[in-house]
Amino acid sequence: MCGIVGYIGGKNAVDIVLNGLKKLEYRGYDSSGIAVVKDEQLQIRRSIGKLKNLKENIEKNPLESNISIGHTRWATHGKPSEENAHPHTDPTKSIVIVHNGIIENYAELKLRLEKEGKEFKSETDTEVIAHLIKKHYKDNLLNAVQETLKEIKGSYALGIICKDEPNKIVCARQNASLIVGAGKGENFLASDIPALLSYTRNMIFLENGDIAELTANEITITDIENNVKKREIKNIKWDCVQAEKEGYKHFMLKEIYEQPRTIEDTFRGRIYPDEGRVYIEEIKLSKEDIKSISNIYVVACGTAYYSGLVAKFLFENFAKIPTEVDIASEFRYREPILNDKVLIVIVSQSGETADTLAALRLAKSKDCTILAVCNVVGSSISREADHVVYTHCGPEIGVASTKAFTGQLTALYMVSLDLACKKESLSKEEIKKYLKELWEIPVKIGDFFKQSETVYEVAKRFANKRDFLYLGRHVNYPIALEGALKLKEISYIHAEGYAAGEMKHGPIALIDDDMPIIAIAVKSKVYEKVISNIGEAKARGATVIIIASESDKTASNNGDNVIYVPDCDEFVSPILSVIPLQLLAYYVAVVLGCDVDQPRNLAKSVTVE
Ligand code: F6R
Repeated sequence: MCGIVGYIGGKNAVDIVLNGLKKLEYRGYDSSGIAVVKDEQLQIRRSIGKLKNLKENIEKNPLESNISIGHTRWATHGKPSEENAHPHTDPTKSIVIVHNGIIENYAELKLRLEKEGKEFKSETDTEVIAHLIKKHYKDNLLNAVQETLKEIKGSYALGIICKDEPNKIVCARQNASLIVGAGKGENFLASDIPALLSYTRNMIFLENGDIAELTANEITITDIENNVKKREIKNIKWDCVQAEKEGYKHFMLKEIYEQPRTIEDTFRGRIYPDEGRVYIEEIKLSKEDIKSISNIYVVACGTAYYSGLVAKFLFENFAKIPTEVDIASEFRYREPILNDKVLIVIVSQSGETADTLAALRLAKSKDCTILAVCNVVGSSISREADHVVYTHCGPEIGVASTKAFTGQLTALYMVSLDLACKKESLSKEEIKKYLKELWEIPVKIGDFFKQSETVYEVAKRFANKRDFLYLGRHVNYPIALEGALKLKEISYIHAEGYAAGEMKHGPIALIDDDMPIIAIAVKSKVYEKVISNIGEAKARGATVIIIASESDKTASNNGDNVIYVPDCDEFVSPILSVIPLQLLAYYVAVVLGCDVDQPRNLAKSVTVE
């Protein structure tokens, strides 16, 4: 994944594609590349690092053409390197493609192609698509793409050129954004609007299943069965800054709304609820390795640490492995008891956090096995860990972590079920049930967003308060901590997260009608306990905002304000119950006029101790 740009028309396509990629730099990337057809040959330039490296490469080895596709890559399968950078070709260099998304069944497709004698040059999932298109190619690129897409499972935005048909670009979309720009005597392709705004404001937003064929003068849209699709051309009025945020006011809001997709991308191709199967390719631990684990330490900082606190419940309840969770800066100086029977689970969005990296190195020096959950391929943590489970969230630009957190929860949930499968500590039926619960979460989050207005109303009502108390129990206690952290970070309001049952041992003294309480009281085995803790607070004059399950008919008796989330199993519920808390923190900060995406004193990646 990251940015795609394509051009066909009368101008120099290379300049237009490079300029478009430049406009997508804000999304983050680790390498880039471009392909053209010139003199009936494909020509490709790729470079790691910033776009200026690609430009220098092109200056040394000039390129010019009326047709081109380009890409900036944020690594998902395979480290950032020139070999893994897009565009990718088939072995005969007839077909060249750029791709955003994840191909779920690429491993089995690659195996099949390798058995047929095909050689691969990269570690990417994308390269299999180029091979397959070539395999299906007779004399029509569109048909070859249609046939290929019948074999592919997963998400994709694709741009494709064939050297034998230098007058067309074919592109296709499934669960990844892809836009066609309509010009006069020229047409464009891009993953995101900002890439095209300098050239055209007339855009077609491709829908899932659409395959478009672009020539300089025509745009034809079909599906895999070659049925023609009619799509409206929209005139986009946004300026470039609005377009970068896809019309959202802030990156943080955009990233909150991206979560149904980023969660699905994280579990895509890794869980099979109907079969009760988890397949995390990156975990190479055998059944014997897993059975010999004496205990787990999850080590992380900040929001990532809170995902670890949830994981403790999962590792202990699903995999039946004793688990401790440590703040990395504490872990590294407390002389924990470590040996080769200990599994260390490191959680980090950036993969560069100094304390987390130091904790990893300490554990490694004591012969522990290191499994990292990380969002950035090729980061220090991902390079030094023994096993890495990537969260496929894409770059997170807002400083306050949102989609990376739910990605971490998703990954840790899958890892714990993988360990449970291999240890046989849960029955097949239980595993199926828990996987199904995860599978349903993206749709449930989408349903929850219909109530964003309610959260906004709550935010407006309470934004003038200076202290908040967040309460939760069991798996939702870490979510109370995370909710409080989000509010502190972006609105500078003092907020404390507390285990609801612990409130009466101290913080209850703080309660008055000026300190709202946010209580997570979703259906679970501790539901009644949380409700009685809420009663204790209300008896002392507290105003309570409850996060409740949709089916809870009595919620409005317990809270002054109720925000409902769809029902789900308690172990998966943190992924859902954190969403209203992210939104609440966001809206409070907006009401107060705070700089949501760049809160004061905070850095996205803390690379100093
Ligand atoms: C909070 C936040 C931080 C990070 C922490 C760890 O919104 O983003 O608390 O979670 O600095 O960062 P990573 O996950 O990159 O190691």
